[in-house]
Amino acid sequence: MFTDYMKVAVYRKERFNAAHRLYRSDWSDDKNNEIFGLCNNPNFHGHNYHLHVKVIGDIDPETGYVIDLKQLKDLIREHITERFDHKNLNLDVEEFKDLNPTAENISVVIFNILRDKLDSKYQLQVRLYETERNYVEFPLEPA
Ligand code: NI
Repeated sequence: MFTDYMKVAVYRKERFNAAHRLYRSDWSDDKNNEIFGLCNNPNFHGHNYHLHVKVIGDIDPETGYVIDLKQLKDLIREHITERFDHKNLNLDVEEFKDLNPTAENISVVIFNILRDKLDSKYQLQVRLYETERNYVEFPLEPA
């Protein structure tokens, strides 16, 4: 079959709204303000995060799919969206108890959660938009 050696990337986009505050408790208020600016607002602030999940794999010769997108959607919703959406990342999500919830750190946390749940035959990469213009990608090469 011509599909035997064909790797294809498939993508699923999801969204979640969450609040956060960027600060270090071991820094002074002045230093936190200097480094994190508005993101250090003690009463938190929100973002509409857009998550793009990239999965690379072989086309299954029987189905023609790399992965059933319904399965991928359900995986992201169960393990990411339901845990992060309408949450305060600092207070409600255990991974950020001692980790600054920057877009960078959120992308690593999301990757690690999904990597653990996704069949190892797939390669994975996540891209997280904190705003329309600011986004991060992890890891640099799908893994
Ligand atoms: Ni922010």
